[in-house]
Amino acid sequence: MTDSAETLCKVVVLISGSGSNLQAIIDNINNKTIPAKIAAVVSDQAEAYGLTRARNANIATEVLAYKGFSSREDYDQALINIIDQYQPDLIVLAGFMRILSDHFVAHYMGRMMNIHPSLLPKFKGLNTHQRAIDAGEKEHGATVHFVIPELDSGPIIIQAPVPIEKNETPDSLAQKVHGVEHQIYPLAVKWYAEKRLGLNNNIVELDNQPITDADRILSDTP
Ligand code: GAR
Repeated sequence: MTDSAETLCKVVVLISGSGSNLQAIIDNINNKTIPAKIAAVVSDQAEAYGLTRARNANIATEVLAYKGFSSREDYDQALINIIDQYQPDLIVLAGFMRILSDHFVAHYMGRMMNIHPSLLPKFKGLNTHQRAIDAGEKEHGATVHFVIPELDSGPIIIQAPVPIEKNETPDSLAQKVHGVEHQIYPLAVKWYAEKRLGLNNNIVELDNQPITDADRILSDTP
């Protein structure tokens, strides 16, 4: 694959916060591991630190706050209008903490991925680290999946487990989960950018075959 701008996968990243996953993807693009270009970073929070990360990397930024919109549908249509100006091949949700309307999800079906801080289907929703500890789980982790209308339920691309130790706190666990997130999200984006990854009839395919557990589960994690 050449580096010419025409062949690079165009990505729009949506964030709400720190953007450490965004940073991991930027770093893997800059060191030429991922043949992609981030066309824009869009945040629903004007103060998100991820916007600073994007500006530092000379990436266009957009802020679309919910304030002033009267419905999720109106907001999501405005978001689509912003995103589609960049004609992206892939939408990456990297800590974008909004529930998406069915219309928004349908618009990007098969070309939008999300990262979630749990071993889905366990612990959908919020406060996953605390809930995993409270449930007495021996391991926790992170999942990258294609987005479908049902929250945190889309077909799984890749997961990585981390052990839950005695005396684990939500903060210490979050740190470990972030560590594996920064491995699996760049890998999923790389596969997509290399045109190796796709969604076919709700099945995740890698190299035109249903993805196997050997590829889907990153096991050599700390
Ligand atoms: C990540 O841990 C990601 O899994 C989580 O938000 C964090 C964002 O961190 N996403 C969700 O909880 C979505 N349901 P970051 O801003 O440092 O990348």
